[in-house]
Amino acid sequence: MQPEETILPFSLKYDATHCQAYFDKHRASASRRVSNYLEQRMANKALQIATNVSSCLDLPCGTGRFWDRLFLSGVQDLIAADYSQDMLDIAARVRPLEQVTKTKLLRTSAFAIDLPDQSVDLLFCMRLLHHIGMPEDRSTILKEFSRVARGEILVSLWVDGNLQASRRKKKEAKRIRTSYQNRFIVPADQFEAEVTSGAGLEIVGHVDLLPGISMWRTYILR
Ligand SMILES: C[S@@+](CC[C@H](N)C(=O)[O-])C[C@H]1O[C@@H](n2cnc3c(N)ncnc32)[C@H](O)[C@@H]1O
Repeated sequence: MQPEETILPFSLKYDATHCQAYFDKHRASASRRVSNYLEQRMANKALQIATNVSSCLDLPCGTGRFWDRLFLSGVQDLIAADYSQDMLDIAARVRPLEQVTKTKLLRTSAFAIDLPDQSVDLLFCMRLLHHIGMPEDRSTILKEFSRVARGEILVSLWVDGNLQASRRKKKEAKRIRTSYQNRFIVPADQFEAEVTSGAGLEIVGHVDLLPGISMWRTYILR
């Protein structure tokens, strides 16, 4: 049975204007293009570890930033899903027609995915979990991912144990929080316990964007 759908405040900010800005952001400057390149490289390494990528759920797909990578890695049936219909509309408009026609677009939430059990070989989740601050919410999402995926689950998030995380934590300690926090670093040990003891998944491996430097890590779970 699917869990109740949780709606977090951050999920509601992705209207048409914000989605267009999100699409533009990754191409805006040389540094953004480099970070996009490094993230694609991290995703590619993780995809190479996955055993079967024939059918894939890209959730959240955003504007389809990873579709090229997924098709190049051997994905044949792609379901691209997102909570925001505006994101899906932009993806359908900005991505090449041959990719759009091969892709099934689905508006759904990671908390209650509108797909039957074991629908896809691979679940591909980039840039969602760093928005999820509560362990119980991560647990609901991880269990939902393992319900829908037959094989591996690739998830990226921010972890500690690197230069960027130490700097960010120092800044956060000084800042007086006045508004809703929408991005979080999760201690790697804590996340790994949530995955294994909590969600009953196996950690196959992980790929760091820049080991020791960047907070971005992609886990390959099974
Ligand atoms: C930072 S973007 C990442 C998009 C894409 N994976 C990428 O890296 O370009 C976060 C995405 O999560 C989506 N989102 C927010 N809440 C969600 C939820 N509960 N279920 C599924 N998607 C959600 C947003 O609409 C947005 O497209």
